[in-house]
Amino acid sequence: MTLCGNCICVFGVLLCLFLGVVSGLCSVTLSLNGKWSLSNVNGSVSLPAEVPGCVHSALQQQGHIQDPYFRFNDVSYRWIAFDNWTYTTTFPGSTQLRAKQKVLLVFDGVDTVASIWLNGMVIGETDNMFRRYDFPVGDLLKDGDNVLKVSLMSPVVYASERRKAHSAYRVPPECPPDVQKGECHVNFIRKEQSSFSWDWGPSFPTAGLWKGVHLEAFDVLQLIQVSSVPLHNSSLSQWRVQVELLVDAVQTTNGQIMLSIPELVSEQMFQTQFLPGKTKNSFTLHINTSSQVKLWWPNGHGDQPFYHLTVTGFQNGVLILKAESKVYFRTVELVQEPVVGSPGLSFYFRINGKAIFLKGSNWIPAHSFQDQVPPAVLRNMLQSAVDASMNALRVWGGGVYEEDIFYSICDEMGIMVWQDFMFACAMYPTEDDFIQTVREEVIQQVRRLKSHPSIIVWSGNNENEAALATDWFGIPVSQRPTYLKDYVTLYVNNIRAIVQEEDQSRPFLVSSPTNGAESEQEGWVAANPYDPHYGDTHFYSYTLDCWDWRTFPRTRFASEYGFQSWPSFSTLQPVSVNEDWSYNSNFTSHRQHHEDGNQQMLLQAALHFHLPNSTEPLKRFTDTLYITQVMQAQCVKTQTEFYRRSQSEIIGGKGGTMGALYWQLNDVWQAPSWSSIEFGGKWKMLHYFAQNFFAAVLPVGFEDDDTLLIYAVSDLSHQLTLRAVVSVYSWSDLDPVCTLKSDLLPVPGGSAVAILKRPITALLAGCGRCTRLSCLLAFHLEDSGGQQGPTNHHFLCSPRDAQGLQRPNITAMVQQDKSGYSVTLRSASVAPFVWLDVGNIPGRFSSNGFLMLTRNRTVSFTAWRNTSVTELSRSLTITSLRDVY
Ligand SMILES: *[C@@H]1O[C@H](CO)[C@@H](O)[C@H](O)[C@H]1NC(C)=O
Ligand SMILES: *[C@@H]1O[C@H](CO)[C@@H](O)[C@H](O)[C@H]1NC(C)=O
Ligand SMILES: *[C@@H]1O[C@H](CO)[C@@H](O)[C@H](O)[C@H]1NC(C)=O
Ligand SMILES: *[C@@H]1O[C@H](CO)[C@@H](O)[C@H](O)[C@H]1NC(C)=O
Ligand SMILES: *[C@@H]1O[C@H](CO)[C@@H](O)[C@H](O)[C@H]1NC(C)=O
Ligand SMILES: *[C@@H]1O[C@H](CO)[C@@H](O)[C@H](O)[C@H]1NC(C)=O
Ligand SMILES: *[C@@H]1O[C@H](CO)[C@@H](O)[C@H](O)[C@H]1NC(C)=O
Ligand SMILES: *[C@@H]1O[C@H](CO)[C@@H](O)[C@H](O)[C@H]1NC(C)=O
Ligand SMILES: *[C@@H]1O[C@H](CO)[C@@H](O)[C@H](O)[C@H]1NC(C)=O
Repeated sequence: MTLCGNCICVFGVLLCLFLGVVSGLCSVTLSLNGKWSLSNVNGSVSLPAEVPGCVHSALQQQGHIQDPYFRFNDVSYRWIAFDNWTYTTTFPGSTQLRAKQKVLLVFDGVDTVASIWLNGMVIGETDNMFRRYDFPVGDLLKDGDNVLKVSLMSPVVYASERRKAHSAYRVPPECPPDVQKGECHVNFIRKEQSSFSWDWGPSFPTAGLWKGVHLEAFDVLQLIQVSSVPLHNSSLSQWRVQVELLVDAVQTTNGQIMLSIPELVSEQMFQTQFLPGKTKNSFTLHINTSSQVKLWWPNGHGDQPFYHLTVTGFQNGVLILKAESKVYFRTVELVQEPVVGSPGLSFYFRINGKAIFLKGSNWIPAHSFQDQVPPAVLRNMLQSAVDASMNALRVWGGGVYEEDIFYSICDEMGIMVWQDFMFACAMYPTEDDFIQTVREEVIQQVRRLKSHPSIIVWSGNNENEAALATDWFGIPVSQRPTYLKDYVTLYVNNIRAIVQEEDQSRPFLVSSPTNGAESEQEGWVAANPYDPHYGDTHFYSYTLDCWDWRTFPRTRFASEYGFQSWPSFSTLQPVSVNEDWSYNSNFTSHRQHHEDGNQQMLLQAALHFHLPNSTEPLKRFTDTLYITQVMQAQCVKTQTEFYRRSQSEIIGGKGGTMGALYWQLNDVWQAPSWSSIEFGGKWKMLHYFAQNFFAAVLPVGFEDDDTLLIYAVSDLSHQLTLRAVVSVYSWSDLDPVCTLKSDLLPVPGGSAVAILKRPITALLAGCGRCTRLSCLLAFHLEDSGGQQGPTNHHFLCSPRDAQGLQRPNITAMVQQDKSGYSVTLRSASVAPFVWLDVGNIPGRFSSNGFLMLTRNRTVSFTAWRNTSVTELSRSLTITSLRDVY
């Protein structure tokens, strides 16, 4: 805890001290972050605890518990969430503080149900992790030590009591499936829904002060928040910036507000009156030089320029507020209109008037304990998204509204965010107090986040329309209207109404998946929210052959789809012991939270690959981890390529696909999941594949009725003239058997064009000794300037049936040069899914998991900490498909 004796007026200390002397208008901020003390109800645990933080983190930091992620500790430490916990601190009530007209105690985030005591008096209660709370405390402050206590009630007990109080009808699901080893009734508490367990995550129902705490004292007014939302009038081709100041004024205050964006408009002045209490004050800044405005573009479509907005407020010539913020200009439209040759409606995003295919993934919480997610971790993961050519992420509705820094990085990197509200896979109650706390949550979050250009759409919930429509919870028909009414009350009459009031700059969807405008027509819950003719879809199938694109829905927009895999051994090792390292261990089944997940991975893998069968148990285990990653990478590749090539076609009324967001980008702990990035940041094979399957220019090959088709997919803005070059290789030889080229064809920007069509039999007949079992295809696109986009491949049979595939005996040499480390590989034969692994040395390769069709190949390694040639050489292992059986 530090006393910020400085008098600060938002903008900086020096000017303020000066004004402070002259006018006494300054505010005083006292941070209460730092060491508090923490104890449970009966006092058996009492220890120091960091704020921001949570009980689990404190217990671990003080050595009271082990790493909660270690082995079976999620179950061993269940008791923590059943106890009540009290955080206590003391702080000095300086005269400087107490002299102010108004003193607020501000909690940026309380997790979750708490009563707050100051000097023995209850000053307030909290029930929502997603809200900021402030309480006036001026009258209670004493000279000398003031004692602040936050008493947190067990979130599990609270949820269960709320469930009991809701006796009229049940609000399902009551409990998570047993395989998740979680807690019940999470839908009754406004808290990260996945904290009670999910199918990819552990049950750690946290309690704590997860964001900062401070005192704020002022005499005239306090600027709480500034938001700026550029709005474009297309008929006038003019921009205006809607600036909102959230102000807490002690009394009615008249003043002048000056707004300026120095690069675009000189100062504009507004006379204003701040009413007492907390008020939202709106101003509109007209940009007369709209034609000069540089636009923010998604990654791959342009730059992300911004402007500086300065806000200053004066009362009788004396400065009363000042703030600066970034303004990015862009427009977003969600286009749902009739489609030629198709029933239904289109569903795509237009940014700055340009239709853009969304490529990316879904984001879940980066840790069970949010206090253990430093900005560098967020930056690293978002950089990994961009490095895989992603331009969009969906912040999924069962986690948390992320930190400001998350969205600022997305702004900088051009990552479009589909932002869910935090409701997922459940029905929710609609009692008055629940609705009221949700309303406040939504108002606060929209105001906090709406200045970020990265957010392109709000969505009311995850899968709750589908849950109701397709009756996940066995609701009797007679009771359905009750649930429909609750659904509309919460997401339409409250959340949607608030969003439309607070933010006119981006679209709102009630759910994901949804049929969008069609769902609205059908009373907000469509008969089939998965209808591929409308809106977005989520689609999962683990048992159908994922190499067969016919199994995938030809949707307008794929916002979720995916396959599980295991993380690498180096990620599992720190949370496990020798006896855990087999695919049949208790640990392996304990970490799997999706029913039959481990079996499904092997069944899917066995469709095309020999399963690892080494007689050496550890090798067999690590080979099995590898094969699950191969399976996942190949499945998601096939599905994503299907969506990208479906963007320009309507077949049987379906198609025009304009988004592919696979489930899921990241992990919350070390366990099997659908992620492409492991807990800790290591890329799975899928993430390396995404670098290619999301490339701006991509050749996609597939078969239809024994005919090979190659599509050229382009996200560029300009037209290319491309041909496909197909090389036929024998599995047993590194020199191509033959090569064929298509004619040059125009490929307009933002399209997918069939560029080659050849019956497989004709293709093989023209290529000597090839059969489906003995040969495979590699192909790329080229124009007069050479190759465009990555080389892709198409297997003519399952690799398990491939004739002539040999152990490649790959050798590697690690070297260091000015730009970093490189690994040069030499292979004696064709090697599919070549996987380089340097254990726990953090970093990533330039390329990995690739099909090696050359004798030599060099890849670089970017280390995320210092390492050496010796350390890398010692850690490096190389696995390819033929090495696991
Ligand atoms: C105090 O509470 C803890 C956690 O609920 C419990 O394990 C312990 O037995 C209790 N101790 C006493 C002395 O009651
Ligand atoms: C925690 O607090 C609640 C509400 O005050 C109370 O009902 C419950 O008994 C307390 N739990 C324990 C372990 O004392
Ligand atoms: C654009 O400006 C015109 C002319 O002032 C006005 O009629 C129209 O309502 C504006 N459109 C929007 C979307 O604000
Ligand atoms: C912008 O243009 C309007 C009229 O077109 C004018 O009244 C106003 O002063 C201009 N503002 C600035 C900052 O130039
Ligand atoms: C797995 O767990 C069960 C039940 O806890 C136990 O009986 C068994 O010995 C464990 N098996 C191994 C291999 O650890
Ligand atoms: C790899 O090494 C094994 C064992 O020495 C050998 O049998 C095999 O032929 C080698 N593979 C190639 C492609 O040379
Ligand atoms: C592969 O690397 C070896 C050793 O550096 C070199 O002798 C050989 O010429 C290379 N072969 C090709 C095809 O580049
Ligand atoms: C990494 O190595 C450089 C140069 O050898 C050294 O200056 C730096 O301190 C090292 N960084 C860390 C984090 O060890
Ligand atoms: C592993 O499977 C392969 C392919 O089925 C087979 O050829 C090999 O003999 C098996 N090895 C062992 C050790 O079972």
